[in-house]
Amino acid sequence: MLTLCLSLLLLVTNNSNNSSSQITDKKEEIMKFELIKLPYAANALEPVISKATIEFHHGKHLQAYVNNLNNLIPGTKFENAPLEQIVAESDGAIFNNAGQILNHNLYFTQFSPKGGGEPKGKLAEAIKATWGSFDNFKKEFNAAGAGLFGSGWVWLAKDKDGKLSITKEPNGSNPVAHGLVPLLGFDVWEHAYYLDYQNRRPDHLNALWNIVDWDAVGERY
Ligand SMILES: [Fe+2]
Repeated sequence: MLTLCLSLLLLVTNNSNNSSSQITDKKEEIMKFELIKLPYAANALEPVISKATIEFHHGKHLQAYVNNLNNLIPGTKFENAPLEQIVAESDGAIFNNAGQILNHNLYFTQFSPKGGGEPKGKLAEAIKATWGSFDNFKKEFNAAGAGLFGSGWVWLAKDKDGKLSITKEPNGSNPVAHGLVPLLGFDVWEHAYYLDYQNRRPDHLNALWNIVDWDAVGERY
């Protein structure tokens, strides 16, 4: 009987807490997206990506996408939605800006000045099973990036069963728009490489392998 009374008391207390926090939460909480912090110094990825490119790419381009999305979503059903959900369910300007935030958040956090080499563990095995070898995978990934017309992204992605694929995403799209999980993405918008490589996109893509942080990418798998 004592246990029953205590349980009922707990239930009443929890319910009253829930309703008061719901009322409090409703007051002010409109989620704002923020510019991610880089996990390295702006010059740390040189000579593959210059300090100037990082500063423009992160500080100007990504910041603009963040500002745009924060201006676009108030009053829409995406006001408090997580980024992946916005990319999966939106279209138009909201999709473009949310997609670019997701793309760049994953992009900037997949590099390290100590990067390079090859993937390890399960991801390495899955790449070998899919493309025969890591070198062959890189060749196909580079070809997809070099062959993408205009602005966009090339991604290594996995489906719900862990099956890998290379996807070419136009403009601000991301594999989550097709129900896939993005693992590794190379940005082929000119803003990602023009200061350092001008029109030589294939050279830029080739150099990026030297800074890929396979531990970070492996965790996404
Ligand atoms: Fe970019």
